[in-house]
Amino acid sequence: MPHIAVVPGDGIGNEVIAEGLRVLGAVAPDVTWETFDLGAERYLRDGTTMPPEVMRRWREDFDAVYLGALGDPRVPSNVHARDILLGARFQLDLYINFRPVRLLDSRTCPLKDKAPEDIDFVVFRENTEGLYTGIGGQFKRDTDDEVAIEQEMNTRKGVERIVRAAFAWARQHGKRRVCMSDKANAMRHGHDLWQRVFKAVAADYPEIEARHLYVDVLTMQMVLAPEQFDVIVTNNLFGDIVTDLGAALQGGIGLAASGNLNPGVAALFEPVHGSAPDIAGKGIANPLAAVLSAGMLLGHLGRPQVERRIQDAVQACLRDGRVTRELGGTLTTREVGDAVLDSLGGV
Ligand code: NAD
Ligand code: IPM
Ligand code: MN
Repeated sequence: MPHIAVVPGDGIGNEVIAEGLRVLGAVAPDVTWETFDLGAERYLRDGTTMPPEVMRRWREDFDAVYLGALGDPRVPSNVHARDILLGARFQLDLYINFRPVRLLDSRTCPLKDKAPEDIDFVVFRENTEGLYTGIGGQFKRDTDDEVAIEQEMNTRKGVERIVRAAFAWARQHGKRRVCMSDKANAMRHGHDLWQRVFKAVAADYPEIEARHLYVDVLTMQMVLAPEQFDVIVTNNLFGDIVTDLGAALQGGIGLAASGNLNPGVAALFEPVHGSAPDIAGKGIANPLAAVLSAGMLLGHLGRPQVERRIQDAVQACLRDGRVTRELGGTLTTREVGDAVLDSLGGV
């Protein structure tokens, strides 16, 4: 019986994960979970961010982690989010941040004349290195001579495994195009490594078109002609940025789901959005990204047909306008959860 570790986390994390769990319980009644009290409240209460014992248990005792969001204005250093979320990504070595960009209903797309078939690609975001490792330092802090250095780490192994994962996924899913995006014209060491590794790995996938775009041009092309993409592979920071743009193409950050993966080792599923302090506690957050992330989690547990059912139910809610206000609806978070459960009955 699959066993899931759940971290609702901060802000709207709690609200959207509650709906995700209702859906999960309905479609997979055999799945059990344990909820972990981790996040800003816990940190402010007793100083705990991420106990090493919990990380060990996530690795050994659970089939997947399901996380809401972390981030709270009362913890400006964001230390808890770094220890919990980035901690899990690094320590569980979840090197693939898999972020599908899929338009489920044309009416939620901000671009004119785009249909679901025009916006259907996946971003493979490198998730364990790049500019996220915290390597660097501050010197002469709070003086006029202050120096702050943030170093970007790119390893051959790290770049190769994410690029290979992107090509392998494309091949497995009959996709024709992989686009690697970097900034090699300005970043001549690390991104030159990306260029060389990309060319070498692409040679193993001759049937797939391997294309390169600098990240500035990529953002423009994602807006102008998103239909040209099947798979995008990029580094940690660029992947963070372009997947919020991708979320907007789908109809907003409230619809974007993600999986942090290391095939065969561990996985963590979460909405792409954050804790949204501006709307937290109001019951108006869109839970569909969390619901779709629960769907991805079940797909990962070997239940693709259940994942498909959840996607269909979400699509039905969008079609019927049973959505929260940022999508033009009137429903609360809880009512959207009800609508998904209703639709599941009919799909
Ligand atoms: P955010 O994604 O939380 O919010 C950006 C905007 O989108 C806000 O206006 C918010 O109201 C809206 N929004 C987000 N999710 C929504 C939803 N489900 N329904 C409706 N509207 C939604 O980004 P932010 O404001 O930059 O970050 C807030 C905090 O969350 C920060 O502390 C940040 O570090 C953290 N964060 C955490 C994660 C994570 O844990 N995975 C991801 C992103 C940001
Ligand atoms: C995300 C978030 C995180 C990231 C933050 C909270 C560190 O924005 O998962 O997209 O940048 O990876
Ligand atoms: Mn982000």
